[in-house]
Order: sequence, then C-alpha cells, then structure tokens
Amino acid sequence: MPLVSMRQLLDEAAKGGYGVGAFNVNDMEQIQAIMAAAKETKSPVIVQASRGARQFAEDLYLFKLIQAAAELNPEIPIAMHQDHGNSFETCKSAILLGYTSVMMDGSLKSDGKTPSTFEENVEVTKKVVDFAHERGVTVEGEIGVLGGVEDGHGAGGSGLEHITDPDQAVEFAERTGVDALAIAIGTSHGAYKFSKKPDGSVLKMDVLIAIHKRLPNTHLVMHGSSSVPKDLQDIINKYGGKLKETWGVPVEEIQLGIRNGVRKVNVDTDNRLAITGAIRKVFAETPEKFDPRDYLKPAREAMAKVVALRMTQFGQAGHAGDYAPIDIKEIAKGYADGTLSTHPLVAAK
Ligand code: 13P
Repeated sequence: MPLVSMRQLLDEAAKGGYGVGAFNVNDMEQIQAIMAAAKETKSPVIVQASRGARQFAEDLYLFKLIQAAAELNPEIPIAMHQDHGNSFETCKSAILLGYTSVMMDGSLKSDGKTPSTFEENVEVTKKVVDFAHERGVTVEGEIGVLGGVEDGHGAGGSGLEHITDPDQAVEFAERTGVDALAIAIGTSHGAYKFSKKPDGSVLKMDVLIAIHKRLPNTHLVMHGSSSVPKDLQDIINKYGGKLKETWGVPVEEIQLGIRNGVRKVNVDTDNRLAITGAIRKVFAETPEKFDPRDYLKPAREAMAKVVALRMTQFGQAGHAGDYAPIDIKEIAKGYADGTLSTHPLVAAK
C-alpha cells in the first residue's frame, strides 16, 4: 500500500469513533516495532519523525525505511508525518520528500522555544496549509503551547502555562483550514509530566471537551500522551537507571479524549522507556555480550509490545482493512474543489 494521507486515516477514525496512535521513530528498529504491532493488531498507523529524528537518521535513510515498511506491509494504511515542524521550510522539505502529513507548530517561533503570537501562528500555518493541500498533504496545527521539551523543541515548563482558549481554537481552525488541531490541555513532552496521578486541576479534559463541543468536526490531537507506566520505570531503575518518580497521562483519560474528538494520540516516551529498559536488562544480566542484536532485538520486542497495547487501547486495532487508500492526487482535488474543506464555520453553514 502506498503511504496514505493522514486526513483519510483520521476521517476514517472519526467515522469509526476511535483514535490512532502516532508513534515517533528515529531508526529501523523502531519502525519495525511499530509495523510488527500494526500487523499483529491489524491497525492503521501514523509514523512520525521530529526534526531531531530527521537529522539523526538523515532524511533519506528514514524515508526509505518508511517506504520499505509500506511495501512490506501492504495491508496496513501508514501515514508518514512530520512532528513539530518549526517553519514553512521544514514542512516544505518533508512534503517534497514524500511525507503525507506535516505538523506546522506555529505556537512557537521558528527557534522552537519562544511562544509566538496568535497572528504569527495563523500566518505561518495558513501558508503551510496552502502549500500542503495543493499536493494532497495533511496539516496539523497547534494552538496553545505544550509544556516540556522534546528533541530540543518546546517552550519548557509545565503544561499549564498556555492552555488552549476554546474561542481561539475556533478562530484558528477557521482561518487556517488545518485538518487536525493539537491543543494544550496540561500535558507535556517527556517522562516528567505530573508529580502525582493527574486530576482535573492539572489535566484539563474539560477544556478538551469544550473545544470539541465548539469544533465537533475537527480532528483533535493530544500531544504528550505517554502514560509513563510504572512497570517500565521499574525495569529501568532495577537495572541501574535513575528515573525519578513520575506520572504520565492515564490511558482512561486518553480514552475520554477519544470519545470527545481526539483522533491522533502522540506517543514517544513510553517507547523510549521500553527500549531503554530492555537494553539495560541485557547489559546488566549478561555483561559479556557485545553483539548489538543481542540487545536491539529485545528492545524492538519491548517497544512492539507497548505499541500493540496502545493500538488496542486507542481502538484502532482491527481497522486496517476497513478502507482502500485514496491516491494523494485525488485528495488534492478534494481540497481544491472544497469537498475536503476544513473551515469549520463555513462547513457548519
Ligand atoms: P510523549 O513524550 O508523552 O511521548 O509525547 C510525544 C509527543 O507528543 C510527540 O509530539
């Protein structure tokens, strides 16, 4: 199956009432882990690469690996997504490479650190939407600012500093025409999200629900959605790691989000934890080993296990065969003739 438009994947998820995990990749083993999980659970999937990942792996290596994944797994719809594009140029380069979806994170300036103004965000996101839609490529925008830092990208701080204002979310969606909207509801990237199991004072599911009420047809995106499970923390610490006590986003909160318009769920940290735990275990238990396959294989298996579990929990499991891919050129026509219009206020009329 060719790489599919993320828009198609999310539209199908909306029809089916489920969420789709978007898993970050940097290398072959992570891609293989995701594909093994997608195959096992028969799930459509979003594979995403941050700017840091594109630099680490080199664009062409990473993209060819994704193409190999698509070729080897023709029964699985895969969307390839640029995570946290910091500028028009970053998004353009991903689109020209063949990514079927990009995130223009205009919530921050192009340094990837300083919060931007609403008008700056609208302007750069709209520019990316125009360029991407002409080519049938999906665009995710962000309104409000997430906490934490991932791969050098992020405003830092807690997730509570720039919670999305529902009025602004409506205006932003209308003026930019994004296909999917990332909102800030108190989550942050990385392992240290919450100092105890989060409640409504720090994880603002009420804001998410309010936004969904105002934008019922907009695909919402939850970033920073790793659950940081205690068992994965424990494995790392048992084998010499030094993680401090921490909490992530409970799966039941993500499921509440999915019942309220969340279609894309970003997960990176849980996979990083699984990989690190598995490698530490091999190093600690069999220090005589030195063949990388001896630790990369269990690492890949540990990640596949986490991904398969999330696919089942998000509800995408079993949906890989529901639809045939629409050619990206047809998707471009849909944007051009208005059938794929993403201006919610216009659509509501
Ligand atoms: P986590 O750090 O919670 O896995 O979030 C990843 C993410 O949102 C990628 O954009």
